[in-house]
Amino acid sequence: MGFDVAAEAYDRYMGRYSLQLSPQLADLAGVRRGHRVLDVGCGPGALTAELVTRLGPADVAAVDPSEPFVAAARARNPGVEVLLASAEQLPFADQSFDAALAQLVVHFMSEPVAGLAEMARVTRREGVVAACVWDHGGAQGPLSQFWDAARSLDPGVHDESHLAGVREGHLAELFEAAGLREIEESALLARLEHASFDAWWEPFTHAVGPGGAYVAGLDAERQAELREACRVMLPAGPFVITARAWAARGIA
Ligand SMILES: C[S@@+](CC[C@H](N)C(=O)[O-])C[C@H]1O[C@@H](n2cnc3c(N)ncnc32)[C@H](O)[C@@H]1O
Repeated sequence: MGFDVAAEAYDRYMGRYSLQLSPQLADLAGVRRGHRVLDVGCGPGALTAELVTRLGPADVAAVDPSEPFVAAARARNPGVEVLLASAEQLPFADQSFDAALAQLVVHFMSEPVAGLAEMARVTRREGVVAACVWDHGGAQGPLSQFWDAARSLDPGVHDESHLAGVREGHLAELFEAAGLREIEESALLARLEHASFDAWWEPFTHAVGPGGAYVAGLDAERQAELREACRVMLPAGPFVITARAWAARGIA
């Protein structure tokens, strides 16, 4: 899946966008001092850090199935309990948290409904489960230009548009199937400036996430073709990508 990679490579690829989502998702979930909150699929810890700022490390816990990301999240968030685990099997007792959040994770769960149901299980009654997933099914994901270029060269490419929660309304459907109630869906935005086309392309060359893994699986000639297909779609100079994430919150 492309997450057994160095945290710094993730930071350059997706972490810069996810930093902007973290305060928005925490606001959506109504996280405030005195709460105890779980970050599911924490990666190197962008949302974890936002939660620590709001709650202090003792009231934050995090899990991720990637060993390098767990190590990075621990190092970056001293005092936070960070465990190697997946959403589908959370190593916590029932009703351990006031809220459970998953930022850019539901689409990577092997069983999204089971993962969300686990998040509800470890959340206290009337607590909040919240998640967001990029708009990979629409035209405003952070990787839309990349996957458009890949599809132009290979119409059968296995992109991220088929994944769970990436289409408007689907995250809410998954929340409902997981037994959450009073579900509300909204959209979050991240706006990132890229200094040049080369600076935009470079993070794709470190095999991070499905996009980076796709590049790593191409031979040098096809990588060059893909890079060129991206180049003609994007400006050479500084440009901004405004990415949309679908978000949902529900009551456990
Ligand atoms: C795009 S990253 C998001 C990381 C972080 N939440 C952020 O916003 O930067 C997706 C993360 O989901 C994790 N992941 C993949 N499958 C998972 C699962 N079944 N349960 C929990 N996390 C999972 C990956 O290891 C990776 O860290």
